[in-house]
Amino acid sequence: MNVLLIGSGGREHALAWKLAQSPLLGELLIAPGNPGTALLGRNVPVNANDQDLLLEVARNAHIDFVVVGPEAPLVAGLADRFAAAGIAVFGPTAAAAQIEGSKIFAKQVMQAAGVPTAAAHTFSSPADAIAFARLSKRPWVVKADGLAAGKGVIVPTNVTTTVAAIEEIMATSAGQRVLLEELLVGEEVSVLALCDGKHLLPLPPARDHKRLRDGDQGPNTGGMGAFAPAEIDEETFELIVRDLMQPVVDAMAARGTPFRGALYAGVMLTAQGPRILEFNARFGDPETQVILPLINGDLLAALAACAAGDLGNTELPWASSAAACIVLAAAGYPAAPRSGDVIQGLESVTDLGDVLVFHAGTTWESPSIVTAGGRVLCVTGLGATRRTALDHAYEAVELINFAGMQFRRDIGR
Ligand SMILES: Nc1ncnc2c1ncn2[C@@H]1O[C@H](COP(=O)(O)OP(=O)(O)O)[C@@H](O)[C@H]1O
Ligand SMILES: [Mg+2]
Repeated sequence: MNVLLIGSGGREHALAWKLAQSPLLGELLIAPGNPGTALLGRNVPVNANDQDLLLEVARNAHIDFVVVGPEAPLVAGLADRFAAAGIAVFGPTAAAAQIEGSKIFAKQVMQAAGVPTAAAHTFSSPADAIAFARLSKRPWVVKADGLAAGKGVIVPTNVTTTVAAIEEIMATSAGQRVLLEELLVGEEVSVLALCDGKHLLPLPPARDHKRLRDGDQGPNTGGMGAFAPAEIDEETFELIVRDLMQPVVDAMAARGTPFRGALYAGVMLTAQGPRILEFNARFGDPETQVILPLINGDLLAALAACAAGDLGNTELPWASSAAACIVLAAAGYPAAPRSGDVIQGLESVTDLGDVLVFHAGTTWESPSIVTAGGRVLCVTGLGATRRTALDHAYEAVELINFAGMQFRRDIGR
């Protein structure tokens, strides 16, 4: 099977690494990929949002199967384009990707399906939202309706900061409509599952760290690290899959927009039980970099089964070990990441058996590899326990360096 993988981040490097282990794989192309994916297949310099060119590449290279990494191309209908051209694709249609592309749509689906989630109110004018917040006399989580690359949610602590948050979010293009959401309290867990439109095949639960600095301080980022499996008892995990995710899968199918792809549930474990914070329509980044190393079995076969609409008896057994990843971010990240800093020490970690270094924002500048994005590398450690996985990751981090490198020292603690 010739495969075209779309995207260029740490998630895509991890997907390429896992797909390359499949006996079903013929040629692997990655568009646009990064210096890490180039070790596993052939990078083609085409942007993930250039649908026409991606289709042309797929035809010319006799691609049998497309795997879409990021959310923006999915929401823009890339999976529909490939399907219309008769090429099998892993990733939801634009209609199904609305579960991530519109937080208001997702809330409506959840409410109609009776799925436990924060209570919420929808507004399309700042004045109405502000009036509502003032009258209620309590803080509300403010969420932009549309895709905002992790910048569409503000969690205020009082009415004044709620009003400021409404003004800030509604000034953005993703925030033409907003949700004001009940403020929940609890630990968070990400539950990802492969979905064929009807059935879910759950993957190990993960936990990510969104803030830039130790102790959950500093600005929000795309994610500074993650570990898996997350601490969650089996009963709660099963409840999340059965009562929080499956009803949404059923509802999407009943609407005529079945969800085929990676369904990612952002869950908060509140004192009243688990509640959905959001759904994503793709693999998480950096969660994928700790989940895939813990899966045994053929990922390519499983993704193809999802795309064909029948997971059947597909199994992806979980390893009993643990994985943890540390994101190495560029100087200036997240506000204004600097490019072009030479990365040193990459060759010294290639021989470490229990470490995987996934590239994200890197590029070649002969004879070096240099920074070329906010999140530069994702260093994944493996071990029998989370503690040993973290030790292995941090030992490798010590060997890598570039000017202005930022990372957290408290991932998984
Ligand atoms: N209802 C809520 N109560 C408390 N915190 C929330 C709530 N909704 C979201 N958050 C916090 O904001 C973060 C981002 O929200 P989320 O819905 O996941 O949007 P996105 O990932 O698109 O930015 C969550 O990980 C969580 O920490
Ligand atoms: Mg989120």
